[in-house]
Amino acid sequence: MGKTFLGDAIEDEASLLMDHLEKNCLDKPVVIDSALNTAIINVLWLMFTSKRYDVGDPEIVQYVQVLDIMLRVTRKKIFLLDVIPVLPKILPTFILNSLFDFDVGENYFKELTKMSENKIREHLTSLDPDNPRDIIDYYLLEKTERDSNGFLTHFDAQQLCGMMNDAFIAGLDTTASTLRWMMLYLTIYPDVSMPSCASLLTIQIEFYHQ
Ligand code: HEM
Repeated sequence: MGKTFLGDAIEDEASLLMDHLEKNCLDKPVVIDSALNTAIINVLWLMFTSKRYDVGDPEIVQYVQVLDIMLRVTRKKIFLLDVIPVLPKILPTFILNSLFDFDVGENYFKELTKMSENKIREHLTSLDPDNPRDIIDYYLLEKTERDSNGFLTHFDAQQLCGMMNDAFIAGLDTTASTLRWMMLYLTIYPDVSMPSCASLLTIQIEFYHQ
């Protein structure tokens, strides 16, 4: 989507988040998760669906709830199935479910996929080939160019959903958690200047993505 597009989107969301915090959160204890998650989802979602949401939007609340439950499951023992991939093949379902909450993780993953599928469906009906808006539109157009059939097969749709799910699962909680820690440190050490915090964050993200 290009650096400028994302840079502008991040700046807009940061400034709206600051407005929200100033209006609603000054001089009192608050839980900032909802506002923070909305700002992050807006940047992630803008790449895919060119849509932004306000704090408390029911669609965003649903996304965050689904992701939250999935992350809670993955923080427990389910990671062992990644480390020993043969386990899901040899263990009976009831053991997978009772030991690893496999069914919970799977159900919520399906829920997330359903939400991504809905977004793709909406885009299929409103696609304008002369004015592609976002990754979904570009994907649909590229698909038409490469394949004379021009339609989206089940596999193509799965691939696109996978990209959307990946961005959400990899991008929301990581960024929210980093920002929450950053705000906590700034609160405890107000003498630390913002630019040095921002450059630390950039270094951290670059380090992680090397
Ligand atoms: C502060 C925010 C972030 C942190 C701390 C972070 C951290 C990480 C870490 C540690 C990994 C490596 C995982 C591994 O190899 O086991 C990773 C991979 C990845 N991250 Fe992030 N991430 C952040 C933001 C994001 C965002 C915003 C996105 C997408 C929109 C994203 C997408 C990905 C993807 C797709 C991978 C997998 C790359 C691969 O397998 O080659 N991350 N991230």
